[in-house]
Formats: sequence, C-alpha cells, structure tokens
Amino acid sequence: MSISNSPFILIVDDNPTNLSVLSQALKSAGYKVRMAVDGEDALAQVERAHPELILLDIQMPNVDGFETCRRLQANPATENIPVIFMTALADTENKVKGLSLGAVDYITKPFEQEEVLARVKIHYKLKRLTDNLEQQVVERTQALQKAQVQLVQQEKLSALGQLVAGVAHEINNPIGCIIGNVDAVQDYINDLLELIDIYHEKFPQKNAEIEDKLENIDLEYLREDLPKLIRAMKDGGNRIKSISNSLRTFSRADSDIKQKFNIHDGIDSTLLILRHRLKASEKRPEIKVITEYSNLPEIECFPGQLNQVFMNILANAIDALEESNTGKTFSEIEKNYNKIIIETLKENNSVKISIADNGKGMSEEVKNKIFDHLFTTKIVGKGTGLGLAIAKEITEEVHGGKLYCNSTLGEGTQFVITLPL
Ligand SMILES: Nc1ncnc2c1ncn2[C@@H]1O[C@H](COP(=O)(O)OP(=O)(O)O)[C@@H](O)[C@H]1O
Ligand SMILES: [Mg+2]
Repeated sequence: MSISNSPFILIVDDNPTNLSVLSQALKSAGYKVRMAVDGEDALAQVERAHPELILLDIQMPNVDGFETCRRLQANPATENIPVIFMTALADTENKVKGLSLGAVDYITKPFEQEEVLARVKIHYKLKRLTDNLEQQVVERTQALQKAQVQLVQQEKLSALGQLVAGVAHEINNPIGCIIGNVDAVQDYINDLLELIDIYHEKFPQKNAEIEDKLENIDLEYLREDLPKLIRAMKDGGNRIKSISNSLRTFSRADSDIKQKFNIHDGIDSTLLILRHRLKASEKRPEIKVITEYSNLPEIECFPGQLNQVFMNILANAIDALEESNTGKTFSEIEKNYNKIIIETLKENNSVKISIADNGKGMSEEVKNKIFDHLFTTKIVGKGTGLGLAIAKEITEEVHGGKLYCNSTLGEGTQFVITLPL
C-alpha cells in the first residue's frame, strides 16, 4: 500500500459490516477513508500517516478502543488527532470514560448515517480551524519577535542619533574657535616675519649667534612652508565642521510639524554617513556616486524621516552592488565600475528623486515583494526586510508621495521617490 499524505479519516472497527457501511457513507460524502480492524492495526497505521480524524470502536479484541485512545493521547505526535468513539454501549459510564480519555465525541450504534456525517463534518472542520490557528499563532509570534527586535533597533538608532547630534553640536564650538583663530595666527606670523625683515635691514651687521639660529631654523624654508601648514589646518578644520554639520542634518530629530528642508542636504549628509561603505576596499574599487541635482525649492517635510528613506535605499544599493561583485576580480569590477546615480528633478507640483545602481537587480518575483514587511533575500543579521516597507510608509503615508522601483535582473535597479510640493 502506498502511503499518501493527503488527509483522510481512519475508521477502526472489528466488524466488517460496520466498516463497509461507514466507509461507504463517508466516501460518498467526499472524504478519503482508511480502515483498521483493531487497535494495534490502527496504531500502526497512524504511525505511518496521520489521519485528520479517527472513528474508534470501543469493544475490540486485544487492544480495545479505550486503550488505543490512551496510547494516541500519550504520544505528542498523535495527541491532537480528534477521536470519535463508536459504541453500542449507550450507557453514561462508557461515554464519560471515552470523553475523559480525550475523545472529542461519541456515536452510538446502530448508526444514523446523517448523524455520523454531521458529527464527522463538524469535528473535521474544528480540526482544520485548530490547525490553522496554531499555524497562525506560530507565524504571528515569529513576526512579533522580529518586529520587537526591529523596535529595539530603532530605539537604539534614535538614541544614537541624539547622541551623535549632541556630539556634533559640542564639536562645533571648539572647531569654530580653531577655524576662527587660524586667520589671526597667520596675521601674527606675518607680522613677526616682517619684523625680522626690518631688523635685518636696520641692523645688517653679522652676529654669530643669530647666524647660527638662522641656519638652524632654515628661515627661508619656514617662510615658505608655514602658510601651507596653516592653510592645511584651516581646510582640516572646515572639513570637520562640514562633517559635524552633516551629522546634525542627518540625525535631525523631527518635530511633529513639517519643516522646510533642502533635499540635497539630506542626500549629501546621508552619503557622508555611508562614506565608509562607498570607499575602496581590498576586494573592490570605490563605488562611484554621481549626483545630478536640479534646482529644487525647499520642501515641507519631516527631514529626519526622509533621510531614513535615502539611507535605506542607498544602503540597499550598496548591498546589491556588493552582491553583484561576488566571484569577480578587482580589475573586472573596475571595468564596469560600481556606481550609484542620484538625480533630482522638479516636475509640475512635485519633486522627483531617482536613485539608481548597476548592481545585481531583481527578478520579477523578488520585485513584487520588496515592499512587504519582513521580506528579505539577505542572510540573518544582515537583512531585516523592513527598510523598504518603512521607506514606503514614510514616503506615501507620511508625505503623500510615491515610492516605486524599476529593476532588471543582472543589470541594476532604480528607485524613484516623488514628493508633492
Ligand atoms: N537596489 C536593489 N537591488 C537589488 N535588490 C534590492 C535592492 N533594494 C532592495 N532589494 C531587495 O529588496 C529586499 C528588501 O529590502 P529591504 O526592505 O531594505 O530589506 P533588507 O535590506 O533588510 O533585506 C532586499 O532583501 C533585496 O532583495
Ligand atoms: Mg535594506
């Protein structure tokens, strides 16, 4: 006999007439049926394939119905299969015993065909519903756990964002002091050098000590090099200042009303935060970012949230580029270099932001699911499957815009964000 896994009802009875009457009735009602002639036979069959429901006779030779039921209940793999007792003994004691052993119902012989079918139907349905519910509980629990992890992660991010904004703010004063004073230092030094020149002119007689010192410090070289050093310090200071500004722009804590925001500042600060991922590594050259910005007005929005949209899309683009690099050598990648093109455009009453990469692209099947909560093709720990779901919500629900995607497998992906003005 071949073992099929499709659901069936197992009828257990030592009386062949009962078996055939019942199985005829159930089959004509559309059920799949198997039969066992005693308890042992039944237990052996259940072990091979689980029925959806068991109709179990009480009085049978060797292992009787009660014992069969007890053993089914004792086994975690079979305890959830509903058992309906069939008995000629209509007395209360046996009914109670059967039910207390875990049976869900009983049918008394001789059978009323309609009654048997009605009871089987309801318990069959109950079993299905229970299985379904259990499955749903498992799925929901998993989803909840994932969402909880994400929430904790977001909490951490938001705390980190505040910290970063705070640190960036604190850096601003000392760095402002350095940048502001560098010019004064330059002026003072120029004054001192002029003073030396004047001394030289007015007191031209040689003095050994002065000659020694002049040689030692190589005054001519110092005169040439000092302004360069000071310029470098000033550039460095300005660079720290712009990093600090970008950090503050990026982690801008949103108030509950929309504010005017320069989208390009948001994109640039996000790129700066992602700089370490764009830089060249041992495995690949740098990812080139090409920005083609149009002249855009400031838009009313929640800047922090929009930055999160840019971040999620750009981080995905970097992931997709890196995945497309697997198996390729450095110079192969260099030929068709990794790039991200960001374009902005003003259209009638909206702005359009396009972020395109020449990474691995997506199949139609993946593309249809990318905005689903928890959908990810990445390994655990790398992907959460929430980035795009969140980006869509922020773009569409919060800002009344649109977020959509064009992609060709093996060629690349473009995300387009439109925001109303
Ligand atoms: N630029 C892209 N290129 C290719 N696939 C992408 C790109 N952006 C997103 N995807 C696909 O969409 C899925 C969902 O993205 P996302 O919601 O950000 O979750 P995660 O990045 O955690 O997987 C990714 O796992 C990936 O398969
Ligand atoms: Mg992502």
